[in-house]
Amino acid sequence: MQTDFAGRVAVVTGGASGMGAATAGELAARGAQVVIVDRNAGLAAAIATSLGQGEALIGDVGDSAFCDAVVAEAVRRHGRLDVMVNAAGVIVRARGEHTTDAQWASVMAVNVSGTFFMCRAAIAAMKANQGGSSGAIVNFGSIWGDLGSAGVAAYCASKGAVHNLTRALALDHATDGIRVNAVCPGEVRTPMLQSQRSEPVTQQLLERIAATVPMGRLAEPIEIARVVAFLASDAASYMTGALVSVDAGYGAR
Ligand SMILES: NC(=O)c1ccc[n+]([C@@H]2O[C@H](COP(=O)([O-])OP(=O)(O)OC[C@H]3O[C@@H](n4cnc5c(N)ncnc54)[C@H](O)[C@@H]3O)[C@@H](O)[C@H]2O)c1
Repeated sequence: MQTDFAGRVAVVTGGASGMGAATAGELAARGAQVVIVDRNAGLAAAIATSLGQGEALIGDVGDSAFCDAVVAEAVRRHGRLDVMVNAAGVIVRARGEHTTDAQWASVMAVNVSGTFFMCRAAIAAMKANQGGSSGAIVNFGSIWGDLGSAGVAAYCASKGAVHNLTRALALDHATDGIRVNAVCPGEVRTPMLQSQRSEPVTQQLLERIAATVPMGRLAEPIEIARVVAFLASDAASYMTGALVSVDAGYGAR
């Protein structure tokens, strides 16, 4: 077991599935105390149990009171907060003209407001850490935060907001010992990748998606989680405000 997170406390939203679950596992394997946050109670409990990390916290990150309560509970349990990972996210696969008010609002509430509310609550706790202000936040951006893509207008807008929120918060706290970075994944094999497709998810469809990637394959969640762990660790001590692509060359074209 690596111990670079020994004595550190991490909160991971979206920790019940996909890249959030992989990140929770990676941080726990490196010695962190991990608090899993998700709105899916069954999956969250299963992951928390499998990692031996205590009860998951269940709720909606689009609710600022819930986000404040999550951070308060993490500090109550473990005495401090060192790492905040914002992986909770949703996608709506619709062109802008066909995106309803409700779809737009739900994507913005989770991806943008949820990330902001958790960052704001985490930063207050990190500033109050015993021994002085310190911490690392890793937000989940996307290749679609910098590039446009047809058929996912609200999602693209939300991830663009996450990218620039990350930069702005990094500058707000550059002298506080609190680093704020984002990981920007490409096509990753998770439930989200397969959700809301207009055609059945078959092996052929997954191969067609993989063929759009320069390296010719989908990512596994752990390949993103390892980069999140790096950004959250002291190995990334001189990094803040960075948007780190983990996309097999997708955005290099
Ligand atoms: N899968 C991809 O190809 C891909 C690519 C780029 C970026 N991303 C981003 O990576 C992050 C993780 O995505 P994933 O692919 O692992 O997705 P996923 O669907 O496997 O997991 C997302 C998790 O977030 C939780 N969640 C959703 N809304 C929530 C809310 N309001 N409150 C609390 N929890 C909530 C879900 O219950 C789920 O457990 C997301 O922000 C996503 O936008 C995904």
